[in-house]
Amino acid sequence: MTDQSGLKEIPKVFSFLGRKFTNNPLGFLSEISRVGDVVKFRIGTQDIIFLNHPDFIKDVLVTNAHKFIKGRVLQKAKKVLNEGLLTSEGEIHLKHRKMIQPAFHRQRIAEYSKIMTECAAEWVEKRFDGEILEIDKQMNRLTLKIVAKALFSADVDDEADEVGKALTSLVEMFKYALLPFSEILEKLPLPQVKKMKRARETLDEVIYKIIKERRQGGHRKDDLLSILLQTQDEEDSTKLTDQQIRDEALTLFLAGHETTANALTFTWYLLSQNADKEEKLHQELQEVLKGRKPSFDDYNKLKYTEAVFAEAMRLYPPAWALGRLAVESHEINGYQIPKGSLVLVSTFITHRDSRFWEMADEFLPERWEKLSIREVSSRFIYFPFGGGVRRCIGENFAWTEAVMLISTIAQSCRFRTIDPEALRLNPLITLRPKNAVKMKVEKR
Ligand code: HEM
Repeated sequence: MTDQSGLKEIPKVFSFLGRKFTNNPLGFLSEISRVGDVVKFRIGTQDIIFLNHPDFIKDVLVTNAHKFIKGRVLQKAKKVLNEGLLTSEGEIHLKHRKMIQPAFHRQRIAEYSKIMTECAAEWVEKRFDGEILEIDKQMNRLTLKIVAKALFSADVDDEADEVGKALTSLVEMFKYALLPFSEILEKLPLPQVKKMKRARETLDEVIYKIIKERRQGGHRKDDLLSILLQTQDEEDSTKLTDQQIRDEALTLFLAGHETTANALTFTWYLLSQNADKEEKLHQELQEVLKGRKPSFDDYNKLKYTEAVFAEAMRLYPPAWALGRLAVESHEINGYQIPKGSLVLVSTFITHRDSRFWEMADEFLPERWEKLSIREVSSRFIYFPFGGGVRRCIGENFAWTEAVMLISTIAQSCRFRTIDPEALRLNPLITLRPKNAVKMKVEKR
């Protein structure tokens, strides 16, 4: 149907004030994806437009990105992250992105890969046959340790529990951000709100301590923090203040570990359910590494390892949905996206779309023998790291970390689920397992 201006009317679905979405986001999006490629629903008073075609997703994330800002959840995240890279917009975002980029150059990643392998090897040494692990928690701790060491030369081991808990309550708090009237809820003296404040204070304490130690110590280290402390804008020679460094550091802490940890948890789970794929992975590790630790130079030879991770992220993308707020009206394929509406795109739905993926729900790392990650990413049928100017700055860090960790750990251990039905999904800001994923260690 078209209106007087010749624009098509966006099909509307009922969501009971958004409750259908908040109760079961993946089920709801999957249901409405069958209605069409552009579908509208409401959460409270907010219109949400769900885009379900790769061309439209690319249009919003890349071609017309300037007409959109980050969506509601990340607007809320600003309260904690201020003007960090994930939440800042426009000039500040571009300027800081340029300043931080050198910390993710190829040589830097090669250096970080040593830390990744070391931390993974240390982790493996502590494991024993028959041990039962909550693999999700273990992966979270491991990736937190790595990001802290690689980017800040900091050892957060002592504080791991405290920081881990604080981050978890922060992430859980974001669930409330999507509820109608959340602004009012936040002003009430609720236990969750108090918990959020405490979490923020703990994280600030840890990060300011690290910054202070470095400024006092004076000696240069070759990590992200030294880049942040020294970098200055080419045009106006400004340097980052402690507050800006804190914002970027907290952003990288938050953005740089839980996503990778979740993807690794799903990887171990999928391998435990697919013995033939696990066997193939072990074969590759034996052929390429012959029992030694992996290094950055091995990355290109560990093709199947990379494919296993790519496939785990296809089925369980940690950033399961991305939201954008239209700051001006925009037309897509004859549909009008009015200014002020929230556009939602979902990796989880697109990655399992049978129009673009054969045997879409199957775990088939072999499919990547014929596919190029770069090519499917450019077509936006696969976009676990987003796209355009807001594409993940830590993407190469994450690929390297995953391949170093999987190859180090899988050489010595395999994991078996205790309850194979156990994996239930919990899509908060990131896609994570609902309950602890308990797995039994089998030493190899
Ligand atoms: C498997 C692991 C990861 C996944 C799936 C992932 C996914 C994403 C996605 C989808 C975005 C774009 C969000 C949007 O457009 O709204 C993003 C942005 C970002 N990610 Fe990642 N990420 C991962 C690992 C990392 C790591 C390891 C770091 C840092 C060490 C990191 C730091 C960031 C930052 C700072 C941004 C904001 C970039 C900007 O807006 O300029 N991420 N990530």
